Amino acid sequence: MSPKTICLTSGKGGVGKTSLTVNLACALSRQGVRVLVVDGDLGLANADVLLGLTVTHTIRHLLEDDRDPMETLIFPEPQLAVLPASSGVPDIVNLGPDDQERLSRILRTLAAGFDLTLIDTAAGIGPSVLWFGALADQLILVVNPDPTSLTDAYALIKVLAQEYQRREFHLLLNAVRSDDEAFQTFDTLAQVATRFLRVEVLYLGSVPQDPAVTRSVREQTPFVQRFPRSKAALAVAALAARLSQDRALAL
Ligand SMILES: Nc1ncnc2c1ncn2[C@@H]1O[C@H](COP(=O)(O)OP(=O)(O)OP(=O)(O)O)[C@@H](O)[C@H]1O
Ligand SMILES: [Mg+2]
Repeated sequence: MSPKTICLTSGKGGVGKTSLTVNLACALSRQGVRVLVVDGDLGLANADVLLGLTVTHTIRHLLEDDRDPMETLIFPEPQLAVLPASSGVPDIVNLGPDDQERLSRILRTLAAGFDLTLIDTAAGIGPSVLWFGALADQLILVVNPDPTSLTDAYALIKVLAQEYQRREFHLLLNAVRSDDEAFQTFDTLAQVATRFLRVEVLYLGSVPQDPAVTRSVREQTPFVQRFPRSKAALAVAALAARLSQDRALAL
């Protein structure tokens, strides 16, 4: 397995990026994949919150001190590491070119120690989203069936395609009420993006709307652990199994 970096991002906020990143990472690590989660939501970090972790050092400390990046990682499980951001990390634009270069070098070094790195970003088309989006090997766009989620995803694809020459986007449909709704939502976005932006939009999978997700957020425990038989957990476990086999996308 060669190390790969996948960025989970979205145009619209609150569509489930952090929940899916954390749970996908847990499911993958339980299937024997060594996973690093990078909290790329520098302003409003919360991957650590969803895992109930106590953070002492963050990306900010990495840039301020010359500490060993490995010391900043938290291991909720032996095969799963988290690089926390915590709130208050300056946005990418405020870092300056030298620190940006340092951060990308640090991330590359850390990623080399894992089979897979998942980056959870903020929403929108702000500088940090585009920075992480440009850095990753693969992009997963998390989309839910709301029309605004689709229009915002289209806007993000447009910027990443036109300004960063990204050509391939994997869509992960979240909070769907049926497979049909997932396919239809995918189809709507894929058709316009393919036609007007000349990009390739691929269907990665879907996760159902499920109260287990909200409960697990409140309990700060991943739903794949806390509610392993829930519909959302089964969907994420199936997705993890596919990702760990599908070398074309992830590994
Ligand atoms: N499949 C789902 N079923 C039910 N609720 C969900 C599902 N996915 C996400 N949610 C709800 O949406 C909320 C937002 O999820 P999450 O924080 O993962 O989104 P996000 O995209 O990371 O948001 P932000 O853009 O603010 O970073 C969660 O607290 C959860 O309650
Ligand atoms: Mg988030």
